[in-house]
Amino acid sequence: MSLAGGIPHYPFSFRGDALASELGRFVVEEPVTRVVTNAGARGWLVTGYAAAREALKDPRLSRSLIADPDMPQEDSSAPPLSVVGTMTMLRRAGLRDEAVKGMGPRQTHVSLERVRDIADTLLTTMKAKAAENGNASGNGNGNGNGKGNADESAEPGDLVADFALPWASHVTCELLGLPTEAAPELAGWFRLLSTGEMANENLFADWTKALSRFDDWMTGIGTEGLLGRLALLNRSSGHPLSHQELVEIALFLFVSGLGNPAGFLALCGLVLARDPELAARLRREPRALPGALEELYRWSVMLGDSIARIAREDAEIGGVPVRAGELVLISIDAANRDPAVFDSPDRLDIDRRPSMPHLRFGQGRHFCPAAALNRAQTEVALRALLDTLPGLRLAVAPDRIRWRQDHAVLLPETIPVRW
Ligand code: HEM
Repeated sequence: MSLAGGIPHYPFSFRGDALASELGRFVVEEPVTRVVTNAGARGWLVTGYAAAREALKDPRLSRSLIADPDMPQEDSSAPPLSVVGTMTMLRRAGLRDEAVKGMGPRQTHVSLERVRDIADTLLTTMKAKAAENGNASGNGNGNGNGKGNADESAEPGDLVADFALPWASHVTCELLGLPTEAAPELAGWFRLLSTGEMANENLFADWTKALSRFDDWMTGIGTEGLLGRLALLNRSSGHPLSHQELVEIALFLFVSGLGNPAGFLALCGLVLARDPELAARLRREPRALPGALEELYRWSVMLGDSIARIAREDAEIGGVPVRAGELVLISIDAANRDPAVFDSPDRLDIDRRPSMPHLRFGQGRHFCPAAALNRAQTEVALRALLDTLPGLRLAVAPDRIRWRQDHAVLLPETIPVRW
Protein backbone atom coordinates (compact mmCIF):
# COMPACT_ATOMS: atom_id res chain seq x y z
CA MET A 1 0.00 0.00 0.00
CA SER A 2 1.52 3.36 -0.98
CA LEU A 3 1.17 6.08 1.62
CA ALA A 4 0.85 9.81 0.95
CA GLY A 5 1.78 11.62 4.16
CA GLY A 6 0.84 8.46 6.08
CA ILE A 7 -2.58 8.24 4.39
CA PRO A 8 -3.10 5.22 2.13
CA HIS A 9 -3.49 5.77 -1.61
CA TYR A 10 -6.72 4.38 -3.08
CA PRO A 11 -7.31 2.23 -5.17
CA PHE A 12 -5.20 -0.65 -3.92
CA SER A 13 -5.51 -3.30 -6.62
CA PHE A 14 -7.02 -4.10 -10.02
CA ARG A 15 -7.34 -7.84 -9.42
CA GLY A 16 -10.87 -9.13 -9.61
CA ASP A 17 -10.16 -12.58 -8.16
CA ALA A 18 -9.33 -11.42 -4.63
CA LEU A 19 -10.30 -8.49 -2.46
CA ALA A 20 -7.29 -6.21 -1.84
CA SER A 21 -5.88 -7.05 1.61
CA GLU A 22 -6.11 -3.35 2.58
CA LEU A 23 -9.85 -3.38 1.92
CA GLY A 24 -10.29 -6.58 3.93
CA ARG A 25 -8.47 -4.98 6.85
CA PHE A 26 -10.36 -1.68 6.71
CA VAL A 27 -13.76 -3.43 6.66
CA VAL A 28 -12.98 -4.87 10.07
CA GLU A 29 -10.74 -2.26 11.67
CA GLU A 30 -11.73 1.09 10.16
CA PRO A 31 -14.93 0.94 8.08
CA VAL A 32 -14.70 4.66 7.33
CA THR A 33 -11.11 5.72 6.79
CA ARG A 34 -9.04 8.48 5.20
CA VAL A 35 -7.46 7.86 1.78
CA VAL A 36 -5.71 9.89 -0.91
CA THR A 37 -7.05 9.50 -4.44
CA ASN A 38 -5.42 9.34 -7.89
CA ALA A 39 -6.07 13.08 -8.09
CA GLY A 40 -4.09 13.64 -4.88
CA ALA A 41 -7.31 14.65 -3.07
CA ARG A 42 -8.26 13.42 0.38
CA GLY A 43 -11.44 11.43 0.73
CA TRP A 44 -13.28 9.12 3.12
CA LEU A 45 -13.24 5.48 2.03
CA VAL A 46 -16.31 3.59 3.26
CA THR A 47 -15.81 -0.19 3.39
CA GLY A 48 -18.08 -1.50 6.19
CA TYR A 49 -21.46 -2.85 5.06
CA ALA A 50 -23.62 -0.80 7.45
CA ALA A 51 -21.74 2.42 6.75
CA ALA A 52 -21.78 1.81 2.96
CA ARG A 53 -25.52 1.20 2.97
CA GLU A 54 -26.08 4.29 5.07
CA ALA A 55 -23.87 6.38 2.75
CA LEU A 56 -25.58 5.14 -0.43
CA LYS A 57 -28.97 6.12 0.99
CA ASP A 58 -27.93 9.43 2.55
CA PRO A 59 -29.51 12.36 0.61
CA ARG A 60 -26.82 14.68 1.99
CA LEU A 61 -24.24 12.84 -0.12
CA SER A 62 -24.56 14.09 -3.68
CA ARG A 63 -23.68 12.25 -6.86
CA SER A 64 -24.05 15.22 -9.21
CA LEU A 65 -21.53 17.31 -7.25
CA ILE A 66 -18.70 14.96 -8.26
CA ALA A 67 -18.95 16.59 -11.72
CA ASP A 68 -18.03 19.96 -10.15
CA PRO A 69 -14.31 20.53 -10.93
CA ASP A 70 -13.95 22.63 -7.77
CA MET A 71 -14.74 19.61 -5.60
CA PRO A 72 -12.12 17.05 -4.49
CA GLN A 73 -11.83 14.42 -7.22
CA GLU A 74 -11.36 10.66 -7.28
CA ASP A 75 -9.48 10.96 -10.58
CA SER A 76 -7.47 13.63 -12.34
CA SER A 77 -10.48 15.20 -14.05
CA ALA A 78 -14.12 15.53 -13.00
CA PRO A 79 -16.52 13.20 -14.82
CA PRO A 80 -18.84 14.98 -17.31
CA LEU A 81 -22.18 16.01 -15.79
CA SER A 82 -23.97 13.74 -18.28
CA VAL A 83 -22.24 10.71 -16.74
CA VAL A 84 -23.50 11.39 -13.24
CA GLY A 85 -26.68 13.21 -14.23
CA THR A 86 -28.22 11.04 -16.97
CA MET A 87 -31.30 10.15 -14.94
CA THR A 88 -31.77 13.78 -13.84
CA MET A 89 -31.59 14.95 -17.47
CA LEU A 90 -34.14 12.31 -18.46
CA ARG A 91 -36.41 13.29 -15.56
CA ARG A 92 -36.35 16.95 -16.63
CA ALA A 93 -37.61 15.92 -20.06
CA GLY A 94 -40.29 13.67 -18.52
CA LEU A 95 -38.52 10.56 -19.90
CA ARG A 96 -37.14 8.96 -16.73
CA ASP A 97 -39.97 6.45 -16.23
CA GLU A 98 -39.76 5.34 -19.84
CA ALA A 99 -35.99 4.90 -19.50
CA VAL A 100 -36.36 2.86 -16.30
CA LYS A 101 -39.02 0.69 -17.97
CA GLY A 102 -36.72 0.19 -20.96
CA MET A 103 -33.93 -1.14 -18.69
CA GLY A 104 -36.30 -3.24 -16.61
CA PRO A 105 -37.04 -6.97 -16.70
CA ARG A 106 -40.13 -6.52 -18.87
CA GLN A 107 -38.50 -4.36 -21.55
CA THR A 108 -39.41 -5.49 -25.06
CA HIS A 109 -36.31 -4.46 -27.02
CA VAL A 110 -34.26 -7.65 -26.62
CA SER A 111 -35.84 -10.94 -25.54
CA LEU A 112 -34.11 -13.54 -23.37
CA GLU A 113 -34.29 -15.96 -26.32
CA ARG A 114 -32.32 -13.45 -28.36
CA VAL A 115 -29.82 -12.98 -25.49
CA ARG A 116 -29.31 -16.76 -25.45
CA ASP A 117 -28.97 -16.79 -29.21
CA ILE A 118 -26.23 -14.15 -29.07
CA ALA A 119 -24.37 -16.18 -26.41
CA ASP A 120 -24.76 -19.44 -28.38
CA THR A 121 -23.50 -17.83 -31.59
CA LEU A 122 -20.42 -16.41 -29.86
CA LEU A 123 -19.57 -19.73 -28.19
CA THR A 124 -20.10 -21.71 -31.39
CA THR A 125 -17.86 -19.26 -33.26
CA MET A 126 -15.19 -19.58 -30.55
CA LYS A 127 -15.31 -23.38 -30.86
CA ALA A 128 -15.16 -23.25 -34.65
CA LYS A 129 -12.19 -20.87 -34.54
CA ALA A 130 -10.35 -23.13 -32.10
CA ALA A 131 -11.13 -26.19 -34.25
CA GLU A 132 -9.76 -24.38 -37.30
CA ASN A 133 -6.57 -23.78 -35.34
CA GLY A 134 -6.33 -27.53 -34.70
CA ASN A 135 -7.91 -27.25 -31.26
CA ALA A 136 -10.88 -29.60 -31.58
CA SER A 137 -12.70 -30.37 -28.34
CA GLY A 138 -12.37 -33.65 -26.53
CA ASN A 139 -16.00 -34.62 -27.03
CA GLY A 140 -15.55 -36.84 -30.02
CA ASN A 141 -13.07 -34.71 -31.91
CA GLY A 142 -10.04 -34.70 -29.70
CA ASN A 143 -8.53 -37.44 -27.58
CA GLY A 144 -11.84 -39.27 -27.35
CA ASN A 145 -11.85 -39.60 -23.57
CA GLY A 146 -14.52 -36.91 -23.16
CA LYS A 147 -12.31 -35.03 -20.73
CA GLY A 148 -10.95 -32.41 -23.04
CA ASN A 149 -8.50 -31.64 -25.71
CA ALA A 150 -5.61 -33.94 -26.49
CA ASP A 151 -3.43 -31.17 -27.88
CA GLU A 152 -2.90 -28.89 -24.91
CA SER A 153 -0.47 -26.73 -26.90
CA ALA A 154 -3.11 -25.72 -29.45
CA GLU A 155 -4.69 -22.28 -29.21
CA PRO A 156 -7.48 -22.10 -26.62
CA GLY A 157 -10.54 -19.83 -26.65
CA ASP A 158 -10.69 -16.58 -24.69
CA LEU A 159 -13.76 -15.92 -22.55
CA VAL A 160 -13.07 -12.16 -22.60
CA ALA A 161 -12.60 -11.40 -26.32
CA ASP A 162 -14.68 -14.29 -27.65
CA PHE A 163 -17.56 -14.19 -25.18
CA ALA A 164 -18.05 -11.67 -22.36
CA LEU A 165 -17.13 -8.42 -24.14
CA PRO A 166 -18.90 -9.08 -27.47
CA TRP A 167 -21.91 -10.53 -25.63
CA ALA A 168 -22.40 -7.42 -23.48
CA SER A 169 -21.77 -5.13 -26.45
CA HIS A 170 -24.19 -6.96 -28.72
CA VAL A 171 -26.96 -7.28 -26.14
CA THR A 172 -26.66 -3.58 -25.25
CA CYS A 173 -26.71 -2.53 -28.93
CA GLU A 174 -29.98 -4.40 -29.38
CA LEU A 175 -31.40 -3.10 -26.11
CA LEU A 176 -30.60 0.49 -27.02
CA GLY A 177 -31.29 0.26 -30.77
CA LEU A 178 -27.71 0.94 -31.92
CA PRO A 179 -26.50 -0.71 -35.16
CA THR A 180 -25.46 -4.28 -34.31
CA GLU A 181 -22.69 -4.18 -36.97
CA ALA A 182 -21.05 -1.66 -34.67
CA ALA A 183 -20.98 -4.10 -31.71
CA PRO A 184 -17.29 -5.11 -32.20
CA GLU A 185 -16.22 -1.46 -32.44
CA LEU A 186 -18.37 -0.60 -29.44
CA ALA A 187 -16.81 -3.40 -27.35
CA GLY A 188 -13.55 -1.47 -27.74
CA TRP A 189 -15.09 1.44 -25.83
CA PHE A 190 -14.51 -0.55 -22.64
CA ARG A 191 -11.41 1.63 -22.39
CA LEU A 192 -13.70 4.60 -21.63
CA LEU A 193 -13.83 3.10 -18.16
CA SER A 194 -10.16 3.85 -17.58
CA THR A 195 -8.88 5.65 -14.50
CA GLY A 196 -5.55 6.89 -13.12
CA GLU A 197 -2.57 7.01 -15.50
CA MET A 198 -4.51 5.54 -18.39
CA ALA A 199 -7.28 8.12 -18.05
CA ASN A 200 -4.68 10.90 -18.00
CA GLU A 201 -3.20 9.67 -21.24
CA ASN A 202 -6.24 8.60 -23.27
CA LEU A 203 -9.59 9.42 -21.77
CA PHE A 204 -10.17 12.90 -23.18
CA ALA A 205 -9.34 11.86 -26.77
CA ASP A 206 -11.33 8.62 -26.47
CA TRP A 207 -14.36 10.37 -25.00
CA THR A 208 -14.35 12.95 -27.83
CA LYS A 209 -14.03 10.20 -30.46
CA ALA A 210 -16.81 8.16 -28.88
CA LEU A 211 -19.11 11.20 -28.70
CA SER A 212 -18.60 11.84 -32.40
CA ARG A 213 -19.54 8.19 -33.24
CA PHE A 214 -22.61 8.40 -30.99
CA ASP A 215 -23.52 11.69 -32.66
CA ASP A 216 -23.67 9.85 -36.01
CA TRP A 217 -25.76 7.03 -34.58
CA MET A 218 -28.19 9.33 -32.77
CA THR A 219 -28.59 11.43 -35.93
CA GLY A 220 -29.68 8.31 -37.82
CA ILE A 221 -31.57 6.63 -34.95
CA GLY A 222 -34.91 5.08 -35.91
CA THR A 223 -37.63 4.14 -33.45
CA GLU A 224 -36.05 0.80 -32.49
CA GLY A 225 -34.64 0.09 -29.03
CA LEU A 226 -34.66 2.19 -25.91
CA LEU A 227 -32.79 5.12 -27.50
CA GLY A 228 -35.15 5.15 -30.49
CA ARG A 229 -38.09 5.22 -28.10
CA LEU A 230 -36.59 8.02 -26.00
CA ALA A 231 -35.73 10.09 -29.11
CA LEU A 232 -39.29 9.65 -30.37
CA LEU A 233 -40.92 10.65 -27.07
CA ASN A 234 -38.47 13.53 -26.71
CA ARG A 235 -40.04 15.19 -29.75
CA SER A 236 -43.30 15.70 -27.84
CA SER A 237 -41.68 16.56 -24.50
CA GLY A 238 -42.52 19.94 -22.94
CA HIS A 239 -38.80 20.27 -22.02
CA PRO A 240 -37.05 18.35 -24.77
CA LEU A 241 -33.45 17.25 -24.50
CA SER A 242 -31.07 18.77 -27.05
CA HIS A 243 -29.45 16.49 -29.63
CA GLN A 244 -26.15 16.84 -27.76
CA GLU A 245 -27.79 15.77 -24.49
CA LEU A 246 -29.32 12.73 -26.21
CA VAL A 247 -25.89 11.83 -27.59
CA GLU A 248 -24.31 12.02 -24.12
CA ILE A 249 -27.13 9.99 -22.57
CA ALA A 250 -26.73 7.37 -25.31
CA LEU A 251 -23.01 7.07 -24.62
CA PHE A 252 -23.54 6.81 -20.86
CA LEU A 253 -26.24 4.14 -21.24
CA PHE A 254 -24.06 2.18 -23.65
CA VAL A 255 -21.05 2.26 -21.33
CA SER A 256 -23.29 1.22 -18.39
CA GLY A 257 -24.64 -1.68 -20.42
CA LEU A 258 -21.17 -2.74 -21.58
CA GLY A 259 -18.86 -2.29 -18.61
CA ASN A 260 -20.35 -3.95 -15.55
CA PRO A 261 -22.17 -6.71 -17.48
CA ALA A 262 -19.02 -7.66 -19.45
CA GLY A 263 -16.81 -7.56 -16.34
CA PHE A 264 -19.28 -9.62 -14.32
CA LEU A 265 -19.88 -12.24 -17.02
CA ALA A 266 -16.11 -12.60 -17.53
CA LEU A 267 -15.60 -13.10 -13.81
CA CYS A 268 -18.39 -15.70 -13.64
CA GLY A 269 -16.77 -17.47 -16.60
CA LEU A 270 -13.41 -17.42 -14.84
CA VAL A 271 -14.92 -18.87 -11.65
CA LEU A 272 -16.62 -21.70 -13.57
CA ALA A 273 -13.52 -22.46 -15.66
CA ARG A 274 -11.40 -22.52 -12.50
CA ASP A 275 -13.82 -24.76 -10.63
CA PRO A 276 -15.12 -27.55 -12.89
CA GLU A 277 -16.87 -29.18 -9.91
CA LEU A 278 -18.98 -26.08 -9.36
CA ALA A 279 -19.75 -25.96 -13.08
CA ALA A 280 -20.72 -29.65 -13.01
CA ARG A 281 -23.06 -29.06 -10.07
CA LEU A 282 -24.76 -26.17 -11.88
CA ARG A 283 -25.26 -28.40 -14.93
CA ARG A 284 -26.73 -31.17 -12.73
CA GLU A 285 -28.89 -28.75 -10.71
CA PRO A 286 -30.02 -25.97 -13.06
CA ARG A 287 -32.26 -24.59 -10.32
CA ALA A 288 -29.20 -23.74 -8.25
CA LEU A 289 -28.08 -21.18 -10.84
CA PRO A 290 -30.10 -18.12 -9.66
CA GLY A 291 -28.81 -18.60 -6.07
CA ALA A 292 -25.27 -19.10 -7.37
CA LEU A 293 -25.57 -15.94 -9.43
CA GLU A 294 -26.69 -13.93 -6.42
CA GLU A 295 -23.70 -15.19 -4.45
CA LEU A 296 -21.42 -14.30 -7.38
CA TYR A 297 -22.79 -10.74 -7.35
CA ARG A 298 -21.91 -10.56 -3.65
CA TRP A 299 -18.53 -12.24 -3.78
CA SER A 300 -17.21 -10.62 -6.97
CA VAL A 301 -14.58 -7.94 -6.86
CA MET A 302 -15.63 -5.75 -9.77
CA LEU A 303 -14.58 -2.18 -9.21
CA GLY A 304 -11.21 -0.51 -9.71
CA ASP A 305 -12.73 2.66 -8.31
CA SER A 306 -15.66 3.37 -6.05
CA ILE A 307 -19.11 4.89 -5.91
CA ALA A 308 -18.22 8.53 -5.30
CA ARG A 309 -20.23 11.23 -3.55
CA ILE A 310 -19.65 14.76 -2.23
CA ALA A 311 -21.17 15.79 1.10
CA ARG A 312 -23.55 18.75 0.48
CA GLU A 313 -23.58 19.46 4.21
CA ASP A 314 -21.95 18.17 7.37
CA ALA A 315 -22.97 14.56 8.00
CA GLU A 316 -21.97 11.51 10.01
CA ILE A 317 -21.21 8.25 8.22
CA GLY A 318 -20.58 5.13 10.28
CA GLY A 319 -20.08 7.39 13.31
CA VAL A 320 -17.38 9.45 11.54
CA PRO A 321 -18.03 13.18 10.99
CA VAL A 322 -17.83 14.15 7.31
CA ARG A 323 -17.66 17.85 6.47
CA ALA A 324 -19.58 19.63 3.71
CA GLY A 325 -17.56 19.54 0.46
CA GLU A 326 -15.66 16.34 1.37
CA LEU A 327 -15.31 13.39 -0.97
CA VAL A 328 -16.83 10.06 0.10
CA LEU A 329 -15.79 6.87 -1.72
CA ILE A 330 -17.98 3.82 -1.17
CA SER A 331 -16.45 0.40 -1.91
CA ILE A 332 -19.25 -2.03 -2.73
CA ASP A 333 -16.69 -4.82 -3.16
CA ALA A 334 -15.46 -4.36 0.40
CA ALA A 335 -18.94 -3.93 1.91
CA ASN A 336 -20.06 -7.21 0.32
CA ARG A 337 -17.22 -8.97 2.16
CA ASP A 338 -18.03 -7.58 5.61
CA PRO A 339 -17.77 -10.49 8.11
CA ALA A 340 -20.27 -8.73 10.39
CA VAL A 341 -22.93 -9.49 7.77
CA PHE A 342 -21.61 -12.44 5.72
CA ASP A 343 -20.00 -15.43 7.50
CA SER A 344 -16.58 -16.35 6.06
CA PRO A 345 -17.13 -13.62 3.46
CA ASP A 346 -14.23 -14.59 1.19
CA ARG A 347 -15.74 -18.04 0.60
CA LEU A 348 -17.86 -18.38 -2.52
CA ASP A 349 -20.75 -20.47 -1.20
CA ILE A 350 -23.63 -20.90 -3.62
CA ASP A 351 -25.81 -22.31 -0.84
CA ARG A 352 -25.41 -19.17 1.24
CA ARG A 353 -28.71 -17.50 2.06
CA PRO A 354 -27.67 -14.22 3.70
CA SER A 355 -30.02 -12.26 5.93
CA MET A 356 -29.01 -8.97 4.28
CA PRO A 357 -28.85 -8.18 0.55
CA HIS A 358 -25.54 -7.54 -1.21
CA LEU A 359 -24.93 -4.02 -2.46
CA ARG A 360 -23.73 -4.90 -5.97
CA PHE A 361 -26.40 -2.76 -7.65
CA GLY A 362 -26.20 0.09 -5.16
CA GLN A 363 -28.92 1.21 -2.80
CA GLY A 364 -31.38 4.06 -2.47
CA ARG A 365 -32.25 6.58 -5.13
CA HIS A 366 -29.49 5.70 -7.62
CA PHE A 367 -30.16 1.93 -7.39
CA CYS A 368 -29.33 0.38 -10.76
CA PRO A 369 -32.48 0.39 -12.92
CA ALA A 370 -31.10 -2.59 -14.90
CA ALA A 371 -30.48 -4.89 -11.90
CA ALA A 372 -33.31 -7.35 -12.60
CA LEU A 373 -32.59 -7.31 -16.33
CA ASN A 374 -28.90 -8.03 -15.79
CA ARG A 375 -29.76 -10.93 -13.47
CA ALA A 376 -31.99 -12.52 -16.11
CA GLN A 377 -29.62 -11.89 -19.02
CA THR A 378 -26.50 -13.09 -17.19
CA GLU A 379 -28.28 -16.26 -16.09
CA VAL A 380 -29.14 -17.00 -19.72
CA ALA A 381 -25.55 -16.34 -20.86
CA LEU A 382 -24.14 -18.62 -18.13
CA ARG A 383 -26.56 -21.40 -19.06
CA ALA A 384 -25.31 -21.11 -22.63
CA LEU A 385 -21.71 -21.35 -21.38
CA LEU A 386 -22.44 -24.40 -19.20
CA ASP A 387 -24.42 -26.18 -21.95
CA THR A 388 -22.12 -25.41 -24.87
CA LEU A 389 -18.79 -26.12 -23.17
CA PRO A 390 -19.35 -29.25 -21.03
CA GLY A 391 -15.62 -29.68 -20.38
CA LEU A 392 -14.92 -25.99 -19.64
CA ARG A 393 -11.64 -25.42 -17.80
CA LEU A 394 -8.83 -22.89 -17.62
CA ALA A 395 -6.05 -23.35 -20.16
CA VAL A 396 -3.49 -21.67 -17.88
CA ALA A 397 -2.75 -21.77 -14.16
CA PRO A 398 -5.14 -19.39 -12.29
CA ASP A 399 -2.22 -17.20 -11.19
CA ARG A 400 -1.36 -16.54 -14.86
CA ILE A 401 -4.56 -14.49 -15.33
CA ARG A 402 -3.55 -10.83 -15.77
CA TRP A 403 -5.96 -8.01 -14.93
CA ARG A 404 -6.33 -4.74 -16.85
CA GLN A 405 -4.76 -1.98 -14.80
CA ASP A 406 -6.30 1.45 -14.24
CA HIS A 407 -9.88 0.49 -15.06
CA ALA A 408 -13.03 1.41 -13.17
CA VAL A 409 -14.56 -1.99 -14.01
CA LEU A 410 -12.20 -4.90 -13.53
CA LEU A 411 -11.60 -7.28 -16.41
CA PRO A 412 -8.89 -9.88 -17.08
CA GLU A 413 -6.76 -9.24 -20.18
CA THR A 414 -7.70 -12.74 -21.35
CA ILE A 415 -9.29 -15.88 -19.89
CA PRO A 416 -7.78 -18.74 -21.94
CA VAL A 417 -10.05 -21.79 -21.75
CA ARG A 418 -10.43 -25.28 -23.17
CA TRP A 419 -13.52 -27.48 -23.15
C1 HEM B 1 -23.44 -6.38 -13.64
C2 HEM B 1 -24.25 -5.43 -14.08
C3 HEM B 1 -24.45 -4.09 -13.42
C4 HEM B 1 -23.98 -3.64 -12.20
C5 HEM B 1 -23.14 -4.38 -11.18
C6 HEM B 1 -24.46 -2.29 -12.05
C7 HEM B 1 -24.21 -1.50 -10.94
C8 HEM B 1 -24.74 -0.24 -10.73
C9 HEM B 1 -24.59 0.54 -9.53
C10 HEM B 1 -23.78 0.11 -8.30
C11 HEM B 1 -25.26 1.70 -9.69
C12 HEM B 1 -25.41 2.81 -8.66
C13 HEM B 1 -24.40 3.92 -8.88
C14 HEM B 1 -24.46 4.98 -7.81
O1 HEM B 1 -25.09 4.79 -6.75
O2 HEM B 1 -23.84 6.04 -8.01
C15 HEM B 1 -25.83 1.67 -11.01
C16 HEM B 1 -26.57 2.68 -11.56
C17 HEM B 1 -26.99 2.69 -12.87
N1 HEM B 1 -26.93 1.65 -13.77
FE1 HEM B 1 -26.18 -0.18 -13.43
N2 HEM B 1 -25.16 -1.94 -13.16
C18 HEM B 1 -25.19 -3.00 -14.03
C19 HEM B 1 -25.83 -3.07 -15.26
C20 HEM B 1 -26.43 -2.00 -15.87
C21 HEM B 1 -26.98 -2.01 -17.21
C22 HEM B 1 -27.03 -3.25 -18.12
C23 HEM B 1 -27.46 -0.76 -17.46
C24 HEM B 1 -28.13 -0.19 -18.69
C25 HEM B 1 -28.30 -0.78 -19.82
C26 HEM B 1 -27.23 0.04 -16.25
C27 HEM B 1 -27.59 1.35 -16.11
C28 HEM B 1 -27.47 2.07 -14.96
C29 HEM B 1 -27.92 3.46 -14.82
C30 HEM B 1 -28.60 4.31 -15.90
C31 HEM B 1 -27.61 3.86 -13.51
C32 HEM B 1 -27.87 5.22 -12.87
C33 HEM B 1 -29.12 5.18 -12.00
C34 HEM B 1 -29.40 6.49 -11.28
O3 HEM B 1 -28.53 7.33 -11.16
O4 HEM B 1 -30.55 6.64 -10.83
N3 HEM B 1 -26.61 -0.75 -15.33
N4 HEM B 1 -25.52 0.47 -11.63
